[in-house]
Amino acid sequence: MRILIASSELHPYSKTGGLADMVGALGKYLARAGHRVGIVTPYYRHLRSHSPPFPILKWAMDLPVGSRVLSARVRYHRPAPRLTIYFIEQPFQFDRDGLYGDEAGNYPDNAERFAFFSKAAVHLGRYLPWQPEIVHAHDWQTGLVPLLIHHQHRTDGWIRPPATLFTIHNLAYQGIFPASQLACTNLPGDYFHPGGIEFYGQVSFLKAGLVYADYLSTVSPRYAREILEPEFGCGFDGLLRQRQNALVGILNGVDYSEWKTRRNPHLDASYDARHLRGKTINKTALQKEMGLPPDPDIPLFGNISRLADQKGFDILIPALPHLVSEPAQFVALGSGDPRFESALLDLARRHPDRIAVRIGFDTRLSHRIEAGADFFVMPSRFEPSGLNQLYSLRYGAIPVVRATGGLDDSVVDITEDLDRVNGIKFHDYSAPALLKALHKALALHPKPRLLEFYRVNGMEADFSWRKTAADYQQIYDRLAGQKRA
Ligand code: ADP
Ligand code: GLC
Repeated sequence: MRILIASSELHPYSKTGGLADMVGALGKYLARAGHRVGIVTPYYRHLRSHSPPFPILKWAMDLPVGSRVLSARVRYHRPAPRLTIYFIEQPFQFDRDGLYGDEAGNYPDNAERFAFFSKAAVHLGRYLPWQPEIVHAHDWQTGLVPLLIHHQHRTDGWIRPPATLFTIHNLAYQGIFPASQLACTNLPGDYFHPGGIEFYGQVSFLKAGLVYADYLSTVSPRYAREILEPEFGCGFDGLLRQRQNALVGILNGVDYSEWKTRRNPHLDASYDARHLRGKTINKTALQKEMGLPPDPDIPLFGNISRLADQKGFDILIPALPHLVSEPAQFVALGSGDPRFESALLDLARRHPDRIAVRIGFDTRLSHRIEAGADFFVMPSRFEPSGLNQLYSLRYGAIPVVRATGGLDDSVVDITEDLDRVNGIKFHDYSAPALLKALHKALALHPKPRLLEFYRVNGMEADFSWRKTAADYQQIYDRLAGQKRA
């Protein structure tokens, strides 16, 4: 099968969150399974320093954005057999420090930037010599892709366009812009209505994907159910209920060739489920690196996160002083909302022996936290899939999670299954409920046999991409079959 994936983030080339990991692994494992895969993604500023530079395809694009025409070059890279990355090089749009914004906030021209990127992706979808049968777009940044394909089929002589799948990684990011921004899509006004891409008088790029893709998916079965309800539907639950026969939830996988506890260049010591001594070495190294008193026996909690509302910091921050009034340490790595950054830094100042915080984005440290922590805290308000709890399971950092979305689908609480228990869940979105779960962790910690039981269950759980990729493959097969019929 021939598949073109469009994404604004792609590990290892650009990343702000799990989208990058997911798309990078999806492409890699589909190609490994024998499919012809292209991934189209922007050529951001930091990629210019890639050595050697990515070669340029003999193919320049001139695409309209409103009343202007912008030119782009396409760079390419073939990291593995059957896998080609197409980087859209448009300096005016993408030669910037951030992916979506800078200290001043989101870039004001994001509508134009991602309308252009979506057009470029569709252009490839239409004219690539290997003729993709499926175009798989992700999140609002590429929400226009299914609509543009639909439109070119309807009015512009594209006779047999590929089938489209649109994956929702997070319904809360909706790509909403003033109605005037419709101009930069060059689409006719007749798509601007409540059954099209209008969202309460504005334009939503996410909605374009939700309405016009042949099929929709999201990144866990539970989130696929949750978004049908007003509480998680972010205003789209009605639309999603209408489309629920074309919506599936597939839990993300883990690329275990990168997220591994043996021969991982980021870690001080290797370990696995049967040889846990190395985990203690990593724990001491982490405590030293973060400036906490090294102590192999004190329970160490970790967190790595975008500091966003979704991630539960408004219940975690009030719970932390209570947690560390017991013998316990907490380390956090994250960046984002300045309110949460300063609240966390303030806690670290007040509890220097117990709480350590690093503000920033640091892949190496993220592996070291997973490897050094005894427990990993994810109190998310909602969580479409979540990758960190999956990484934690493999790294033997027992996840303490709120039972929502992909967290609920991947972590097993003792009340659910005595034999397969691998984590601790709580339900109420409140600091006391979280604290109760953290106390359960503290009670578990001094019981070495039970602790090891949890840990080994987690480390042996299998969230490998082979299965996840096979689930996507099934959808592609069905969609391509329908198109052929
Ligand atoms: P989300 O995509 O909502 O941010 P996920 O759990 O799916 O949440 O994925 C987050 C990914 O981003 C993980 O790979 C995590 O390790 C990484 N990550 C998040 N914040 C940081 C950070 N500050 N430094 C390094 N990696 C981070
Ligand atoms: C989003 C979600 C996260 C998910 C990731 C990758 O960022 O917030 O839960 O794991 O996408 O699918």
